[in-house]
Amino acid sequence: MGLDFEGRVAIVTGAGGGLGRQHALALAARGARVVVNDLGGDVHGDGGSMSAAQSVVQEIRAAGGQALVNGASVTDFDAVQRMVQQAMDTWGRVDILVNNAGILRDKSFAKMTLEDFRLVLDVHLMGAVHCTKAVWPVMQARQYGRIVMTTSSSGLYGNFGQSNYGAAKLALVGLMQTLSIEGEKYGIRVNCLAPTAATRMTQGLMPEAVLQALEPQAVVPAMLVLASQEAPNRTILCAGAGGFEAAHITLTQGVYLGLGPDVPEQLAENLPRVTERTGETVPRSGGDQGSREVGKAMKAHLA
Ligand code: NAI
Repeated sequence: MGLDFEGRVAIVTGAGGGLGRQHALALAARGARVVVNDLGGDVHGDGGSMSAAQSVVQEIRAAGGQALVNGASVTDFDAVQRMVQQAMDTWGRVDILVNNAGILRDKSFAKMTLEDFRLVLDVHLMGAVHCTKAVWPVMQARQYGRIVMTTSSSGLYGNFGQSNYGAAKLALVGLMQTLSIEGEKYGIRVNCLAPTAATRMTQGLMPEAVLQALEPQAVVPAMLVLASQEAPNRTILCAGAGGFEAAHITLTQGVYLGLGPDVPEQLAENLPRVTERTGETVPRSGGDQGSREVGKAMKAHLA
């Protein structure tokens, strides 16, 4: 069965180029009406022009699709609210939000300024928060929503020189974890996409032959699945070069050591058992993780 977006309205942020452009084109080709948002700055977040986003809109229209251009910076909540209003005034609904806009300010942590740290958090984390906050009541009212947060292997696993970016990207996983729980009863599903693609963002970071395998279009299927009616909820989907994986934040079985005075020494001795991965699980929520610890203690007291 094909993934059909007929009748849906989608907002894709940072859709003037790179992955966002591919997301917007693919959603429109499958029937969605798309708000093509982009501030149009450079990869470091400097400058701004709507021409790239405008040309994506023209491309969509030339192919027979429907699209609107929007030049809001995702860091500006008022402008983001106006963008959502623009979609509502024109098409009366927003079904899909793809939080894709992003910048880089790479430096080793020792050399990184706090300004560069804050700016990257502001664009990736607060940008996604602003867009999600603005569409949330619209989606709640219609009892339908699909939200895709763009995370990164940098956030999930770390990369040299990307402490700001990695922190921001893993924060989006945290945001997704709670919103997927809160959104469930309103028909809102929230997931994360961790792409790997050759775009201006990865230029110079990888050898040319590797970049050639990483065409941005190869990430699009994962976005389409996460934005579709049949989407999962609370999934971290990795995609690049035609490969797809899921990342999980797992919990080991661990051990119960109690409250005795020598627990620090016992813990040091038992660390291999605590980190042993056999039987690890993914808790349903933070509360679920805590209750497992309480459960271990109660079991020990009953024994
Ligand atoms: P890109 O630089 O081509 O695209 C990012 C877009 O976001 C640009 O068009 C830019 O103008 C726009 N943008 C930046 N700040 C904005 C703001 N404040 N408001 C609105 N738009 C803004 O880079 P790429 O690779 O397409 O990145 C897309 C997303 O994928 C980003 O969130 C990035 O962090 C993420 N990502 C990319 C990876 C890759 O391998 N290319 C790896 C992991 C994550």
